[in-house]
Amino acid sequence: MSYSEKKKKKGKLILVSNREPYSHYFSKGKIFLKSTGGSLVSVLDPLMLKRGNTWIAWGSGSADFKVTDPKHRVKIGKDKNFYWLRRIKLSKKEVNNYYVGFSNRVIWPLVHLMVDKIQFNEEYWETYKEINERFANITVEQFKRSDFVWVQDYHLMLAPQLIRKKRKKAKIAFFFHLPWPPWEIFRILPWKREILKGILGADLIGFHIPLYAKNFLDCVEKEFGLKSKKGALKFEGRKILCRNFPLGIDFEKFQKTSESKKPVEIEKEIRKSLNAEFMLLGIDRIDYSKGIPNKLRAFNAFLKKHPSFQKKVVLVQLLTPSRAKTAEYKKLEKEIDVLAGEINGEYQKLFWVPIRCLDRFVQKERLVGYYKAADVALVTPLIDGMNLVAKEFIAANSKNNSALVLSSFAGASEELKEAIKVNPFNQNEMVEAIRKSLTIKPVTKRKKFKLLKKRVEKNDVSLWLENFLKEWEKLY
Ligand code: G6P
Repeated sequence: MSYSEKKKKKGKLILVSNREPYSHYFSKGKIFLKSTGGSLVSVLDPLMLKRGNTWIAWGSGSADFKVTDPKHRVKIGKDKNFYWLRRIKLSKKEVNNYYVGFSNRVIWPLVHLMVDKIQFNEEYWETYKEINERFANITVEQFKRSDFVWVQDYHLMLAPQLIRKKRKKAKIAFFFHLPWPPWEIFRILPWKREILKGILGADLIGFHIPLYAKNFLDCVEKEFGLKSKKGALKFEGRKILCRNFPLGIDFEKFQKTSESKKPVEIEKEIRKSLNAEFMLLGIDRIDYSKGIPNKLRAFNAFLKKHPSFQKKVVLVQLLTPSRAKTAEYKKLEKEIDVLAGEINGEYQKLFWVPIRCLDRFVQKERLVGYYKAADVALVTPLIDGMNLVAKEFIAANSKNNSALVLSSFAGASEELKEAIKVNPFNQNEMVEAIRKSLTIKPVTKRKKFKLLKKRVEKNDVSLWLENFLKEWEKLY
């Protein structure tokens, strides 16, 4: 019996994440609904719609609680395809301490190996504990004995154990969407033990790639003096399994969109407006882990070293606004703006601007239009849990005639073997990778691209889900 068939007979799936899939907001006195966009949402929303369950998340929209029922719920979807979104109210102070503070100023830089950016703060930690407790209590309220509870990501690392405390036999899984750091980095966290214990409340713990799972197990072994065998370990009398499940994209959907009318028109419009032979594309959330300044500096060095490409190539850099109210992110946005301005100032001619930065959220069809228009995608994060932009770019190009420059330090790099790999800290290597991507023989390019596409198609999001759910189901 498959997981979904069993689920129908037995329990339902409760999803617990910080970011809600949809938010309601006010605009000109009216209430609107919007998707919150991120990759997590695009992956899990279809699953939830199909399996009609409850999604518990922070209600972050300005009108979120204007549309909820007395139980703070709102129905997403219709007919048979729906689920309940149970929103959790957080005060401004709580958001600042739990989300901006502990999640994004402590854990985010820690796991991205940027220890100098960590802002240790006891108040952040206290609130993080409180909010995890709140999420856990609300999960328990919704919970029926046979339910499956799936907790997502770094905002809720204490929740698995907190739920377990109240429901000993609960079927709990946890997925971590970021890199897990080596012990030498993780051990500096004053609350390391509590965090590990929190995650170990789950029966199945998922990471994107084997390295992160290995690092996590290493931390557990060092902290608790335990030994694991083939990803399995015993903790407080329970068996726990730790595995890697590389996240994929909805390949079919991307491919279909890319062949539809609008993206094709947008592609043409973009190419026409650039007035250049080659288009390089970068699409990143404005985040210091994405290495955007490194990319711009490398492009600058490329133009210097290979002047024959001046007036021929344009770098289009889309910047997706993120955590925009946070000082560090605002600072980065400014830095990118200044850098791009300087480079443009140095090279631009009357009809050629080398860098075009677009600072806004782009709708899917337009996004696919950009993917299609590009000759090369520069996906060069300093470190990244997975990076789905690389995979989306491959799925969206129907002509198989572009190249992917990919950071070796993105999780996706393990799988996308035919990409042009680069160390984003090594400027010479970046310059050489850009040159290579623009001069690679069309036959070789096509051959490599087709292989990349095969991989992205095969390891798509449904396989990720299937593998995860299968492994989870097997435990009971
Ligand atoms: C990363 C995290 C997600 C998060 C996303 C967007 O990919 O793994 O959990 O949702 O960034 O960040 P935000 O802070 O806007 O939720």
